[in-house]
Amino acid sequence: MSDWLIETIHLTKIYGSGETAIRALDDVNVTVAPGEFVAIMGPSGCGKSTLLNMLGALDQPTSGEVWVAGENLAKLKDVDGFRASTVGFVFQLHNLLPTLTAAENIEVPMQGRVASARKRRARALHLLEVVGLAPRANHLPNQLSGGQRQRIAIARALANSPKLVLADEPTGALDSQSGDEILALLGELNRSEGATIAVVTHDRRVAQSTQRILRMQDGRIVEDHRVSDPLEEDLRALAFSKLGETILNPNDAPMQEVSPEEEAILRKLIERLRQ
Ligand SMILES: Nc1ncnc2c1ncn2[C@@H]1O[C@H](COP(=O)(O)OP(=O)(O)OP(=O)(O)O)[C@@H](O)[C@H]1O
Ligand SMILES: [Mg+2]
Repeated sequence: MSDWLIETIHLTKIYGSGETAIRALDDVNVTVAPGEFVAIMGPSGCGKSTLLNMLGALDQPTSGEVWVAGENLAKLKDVDGFRASTVGFVFQLHNLLPTLTAAENIEVPMQGRVASARKRRARALHLLEVVGLAPRANHLPNQLSGGQRQRIAIARALANSPKLVLADEPTGALDSQSGDEILALLGELNRSEGATIAVVTHDRRVAQSTQRILRMQDGRIVEDHRVSDPLEEDLRALAFSKLGETILNPNDAPMQEVSPEEEAILRKLIERLRQ
């Protein structure tokens, strides 16, 4: 067992056999720490959805291993339980049930896991609030916009507080503003709920809003890039700037203008940033 939330070891998936065999995943070795927010990019057919399906135990590898939250997925005793409670899926098309209200759709994955109907409703209402759609609890999917439906789908994916959220082009069917909102929401959930998120996207901007970009090609991961946080970059630049130096040097003239409390806070901040 490792501390990774996700670990794939020589993960390979071959569809078909003989001449027509397709190597959808070719020796993929990747680790993701708990709480990471990862984008998966790459051209159509490179294996992104296949990888996501393997991570969610929706499909079996041809060879190699997939570990998620300490479980070897090939050895799962309760696959349905794993799919229902350890992972949450968000697909490009939200797949909401058209005859159920927003709240009822969110309750679906809780059936059989949360015994009391009252608790299921309370959780659904809480999640509606989290995704900013509390007033739409009793609306049917066709009474909601595309972006709102996708937010309901995200709430549904979070129903059982999964450790891992897998999103396959969740913004693909949306206009760019709704897409941005969905991404901001996923980022927020990553921060507030501590959920590890892997999102497949074709959109560079979307990918840059995550912490890490995995780029795939022909079933392989060809690039693993950490996105640096612009705010953190700016703060670090400040820490090593002349102003940062001044703050650290209490005898510097400009610091005479700053109150002792302010100076103490600034010193603490700059010292931390320079570590
Ligand atoms: N069930 C299947 N049977 C046979 N081949 C498949 C199957 N599913 C996927 N493939 C093939 O495996 C390769 C990877 O497919 P995958 O769906 O993972 O690509 P993708 O990166 O998600 O592409 P896209 O961006 O178009 O969604 C493709 O060549 C595809 O044709
Ligand atoms: Mg795909």
